[in-house]
Amino acid sequence: MTSRRSSVRICCVFCAVLSGIFCLILSRGSFLAQAAAQDLPAVENRAAEAKTPNPEQTEINPKEAKAAEIKAKEKERYQTRKNHDPNGQGKFYLGREIAMVMTFHGAPWLERPEREEEERLSELVRELKLQPGQVVADVGAGSGVITMMMAHEVGPTGKVMAVDIQQEMLDLLGDKLKNRDIQNIELVLGEEKSPKLDPASIDLALMVDVYHEFEYPYEMMLELSQALKVGGRIAFVEYRREDPQVPIKLVHKMTEAQVKKEIGQAEFGLKWKETIRTLPRQHIVVFERVEK
Ligand SMILES: C[S@@+](CC[C@H](N)C(=O)[O-])C[C@H]1O[C@@H](n2cnc3c(N)ncnc32)[C@H](O)[C@@H]1O
Repeated sequence: MTSRRSSVRICCVFCAVLSGIFCLILSRGSFLAQAAAQDLPAVENRAAEAKTPNPEQTEINPKEAKAAEIKAKEKERYQTRKNHDPNGQGKFYLGREIAMVMTFHGAPWLERPEREEEERLSELVRELKLQPGQVVADVGAGSGVITMMMAHEVGPTGKVMAVDIQQEMLDLLGDKLKNRDIQNIELVLGEEKSPKLDPASIDLALMVDVYHEFEYPYEMMLELSQALKVGGRIAFVEYRREDPQVPIKLVHKMTEAQVKKEIGQAEFGLKWKETIRTLPRQHIVVFERVEK
């Protein structure tokens, strides 16, 4: 009798425990379902937020943002003035008005026979002390009068990169090359902001009567300085503005001080090396690329 009662009691306890466990499982299940139900819309909402642009938020396109930043910097760097020299662009950089670019129609003036006597181009090239095998750049090569002279100096083991932004100028030089057996000149169509030269590839970059008409001198110089090998040189040949006797329009002349002011900016990594004053009308202001 006692054993029967106790077995009934055990049975009851067992049933109670079982139903307790069952209830627990049921309540946990509904809790999880509830939690999931609460969570799901939140996850969906987050995904939806990512897809739907907030109409109050302006979308930032990285390309447009970069372009806007460049524009803002250019605005800061270059100023336009209404009152300016008629031979200039009306665009000013570090206090200097940028000259108009000489078009290819001016090529006969570059080729004029009296140029050697007036500018002593042979002496100019000699002063650069080019070495056979060097890779040099004639930036703003025009019809290539000086390019040809440089090609002779660096010889067949060297190379001259003739850079210009006017295809017509490069074509004039190309025509000359067809008639002669010259293999060491490469024609490069540059852009207003880029000479399109490889970094650290150039021993000497020359600009004869060119720099003052760069539309974007800062941007050009950033790339040109990078194109020089460390220890490489860059030479600016400009009509002397200090000398009123030099018969050239004012915006096509530059003082030595102005050249130094513009080229000496730290970001170019160029150090003034020498100024050669032996030519009748121009000075040759030479800088050297130093390790940055
Ligand atoms: C006055 S010409 C001098 C040509 C040559 N250096 C000479 O003395 O016979 C100036 C040349 O510079 C070029 N030029 C102007 N801006 C330039 C730039 N950003 N990059 C390359 N060439 C440029 C012009 O197209 C033009 O052919």
